[in-house]
Amino acid sequence: MQRVGLDALDHPDHGPDETILGDLRGKQVLELGSGSGCNLAHLATLGARCTGVDIAPSRQAAAEQRWGRGPELQFVTCDVVDFLTETDADFDVIISIFGATWFTDPAVLLPLVLRRLVPGGLLVFSHNDEPGAATAQDHVIRK
Ligand SMILES: C[S@@+](CC[C@H](N)C(=O)[O-])C[C@H]1O[C@@H](n2cnc3c(N)ncnc32)[C@H](O)[C@@H]1O
Repeated sequence: MQRVGLDALDHPDHGPDETILGDLRGKQVLELGSGSGCNLAHLATLGARCTGVDIAPSRQAAAEQRWGRGPELQFVTCDVVDFLTETDADFDVIISIFGATWFTDPAVLLPLVLRRLVPGGLLVFSHNDEPGAATAQDHVIRK
């Protein structure tokens, strides 16, 4: 099964892997812009309880068709700003692998992420800093 890599799209195995997320057993993990669900499907095998949010209904359908859904792995169609505004769930780890943090105003998104992270929780994300940039930037932020 695919490993989560923070630069997984273009340069497999060149970046940190899921070990930077720590022991995921029993942890609530949220992916912002979960796409095909591959990252969360892998993290669920490590014991995480995973929620993926993607703005595209086709991504939820594809993820559920490929990985199914259950208490340890669920997918939601929603803009991440709306999701984070409306949910009352808390998360131990929030990830975005070339996902919604790349496409969303950080001034809007980051305060919402902060509200939903448990104390000591992690925000881990990757994106290119500028269009066409060849090198992925990987970030880990601890609350
Ligand atoms: C480049 S794909 C990466 C998908 C996945 N993270 C991966 O590693 O394969 C970016 C995803 O972010 C989603 N996305 C972009 N902006 C979003 C937003 N504001 N809210 C939710 N999802 C968003 C897109 O629909 C797309 O599926």
